[in-house]
Amino acid sequence: MNPLRELLREHAAIRALTARFEFEATLGETQGAIDGEAVGRLLHFFEHELDGHHQEKEERILLPRLVAHARGRELDLVLHLGQDHARQRAVLAHLANQLESASWGEPNSLRVLAREARRFVRLQQQHSRWEQHEIFSLARRWLTPDDERAIASDFRRLDEARGGSVWDAACALAAWLDQRRAFVPAMPV
Ligand SMILES: [Fe+2]
Ligand SMILES: [Fe+2]
Repeated sequence: MNPLRELLREHAAIRALTARFEFEATLGETQGAIDGEAVGRLLHFFEHELDGHHQEKEERILLPRLVAHARGRELDLVLHLGQDHARQRAVLAHLANQLESASWGEPNSLRVLAREARRFVRLQQQHSRWEQHEIFSLARRWLTPDDERAIASDFRRLDEARGGSVWDAACALAAWLDQRRAFVPAMPV
């Protein structure tokens, strides 16, 4: 698959799971409890498949090839990618701490978890839109067919090293959530 089309497909899968995450992580506000396993699995996906896999493709494979073409303002724009990823990583770490606090019955942690989940979802969706609008547009202008073949091959190697694709991991988690929601109402953390 063309590497930009693959990243776009991953964005769609990630966007669908961020919506599920916002729903699950804010249930504490209306029901006084969340399904801790569902929120934990979603956070694990964001840490390992969004940050550790999708963003690794962007930072370690796509970014160096764009930097090789970029000059001036475009170079600043391309380098902003890594800074935005670092900001999301910090919010994810904070969310994981809040989930752990909630599991120990820490007062206010469900409220903070809900607030930070909304913040993460907003940041993530803005980030994907920005990438598609700015970064992928530059990539379409700059990348040669040879660049695209090399990137696609590096993407395949990373997928193999990680035991599967981001898309497959997202589909498996969505199926698990569907099944869980069909049988399990909101549970305490
Ligand atoms: Fe990204
Ligand atoms: Fe992305």
